[in-house]
Amino acid sequence: MVKIALAGGTSEVGHEILDALVATGKHDITLLSRQNTTPEDAVDGTTWVKVDYQDHQTLVHALQGVHTVLSFVDAPRDQDGAAQKALIDAAVAAGVKRFAPSVADSLQAPPHYLRELNKDKKVLEYSLFQCGLFLNYLGYPHKTTKHMALFESCLDLEHRRDIVFEGYDQPGTAAGRISLVTVQDLAAIMARTVESDGEWPRVGGLHANATTLAELLALVKKIKGKPFQVETLKLDDLRAMHITSSRVPMVPHRSVPPGMVERFSRMFLSNIFLKISAADGGWGVSDEWNSIFPDHEFTSIEAFLTEVCAGKE
Ligand SMILES: NC(=O)c1ccc[n+]([C@@H]2O[C@H](COP(=O)([O-])OP(=O)(O)OC[C@H]3O[C@@H](n4cnc5c(N)ncnc54)[C@H](OP(=O)(O)O)[C@@H]3O)[C@@H](O)[C@H]2O)c1
Repeated sequence: MVKIALAGGTSEVGHEILDALVATGKHDITLLSRQNTTPEDAVDGTTWVKVDYQDHQTLVHALQGVHTVLSFVDAPRDQDGAAQKALIDAAVAAGVKRFAPSVADSLQAPPHYLRELNKDKKVLEYSLFQCGLFLNYLGYPHKTTKHMALFESCLDLEHRRDIVFEGYDQPGTAAGRISLVTVQDLAAIMARTVESDGEWPRVGGLHANATTLAELLALVKKIKGKPFQVETLKLDDLRAMHITSSRVPMVPHRSVPPGMVERFSRMFLSNIFLKISAADGGWGVSDEWNSIFPDHEFTSIEAFLTEVCAGKE
């Protein structure tokens, strides 16, 4: 049994992971949330604790006896990582053993804070879980998640159309690579990491699938057995957030005010394409967790999309 605190108690991604943790029937799990609990929020086998990230003592109290903190605090909305930094400080004060910040870019503030904290000696064991983009989005509108809302992506299987960026099909370059993993695979691995005795790797890459937009397009053409209509965006246009395609995949995430969805979606598409096309190798991830759990079989892109296209989910 591990005493776990899951921060960002109402997180959609967090609840996908929570299901896997609860299913083991082994752990004592506390959900830390800024919200008051409601009967709909109650999850069997868990305890709900309301927290204020600006109140150090309340946080320390909530973390008494906790071994592992898994944070799903929405990184983009946590200004300068203030909430996650407060959580780290409280975890240290409460004697927490392990900490996983929100699945995030290692350049963001909380990972940097953890690195600094452990610079001279280990103060708090941590791992930066990195998994790339959730494959589940490519299956939209098919529902392949329980809690996480899915949105349309550039690759539209239903209408057989795709949006790519210039140079996406240039052979022999590292640029354009992207890592994809199902949220179920992330949940399965996280559930195992919680139980593992060995020291967590500081960078915890989860390498399920690496592909390029060109390989992805070729794969869906094969699965569907039909051609796709493809629109190409220029990188200079993306840098200016100028999207010239006939459609912009909308990302109506609950954190985005309705009036901002259009602008957010343009920014999201630009950022993702610029990240994938980066000359330093695109959006790849390392494979530390694969080495620790070599027997885990990740869902392949082909198996996932074939099943989605067959309408079975
Ligand atoms: N790689 C991918 O494909 C992918 C996809 C989706 C998400 N993500 C990442 O996964 C993480 C969780 O995403 P999600 O979709 O589950 O997020 P979410 O549901 O929008 O929010 C997570 C939780 O963070 C808490 N929160 C929000 N703003 C906060 C603030 N300013 N201070 C403190 N807590 C705050 C809220 O919990 P309470 O109100 O209960 O406190 C919220 O429910 C994010 O960092 C996101 O970037 C990655």
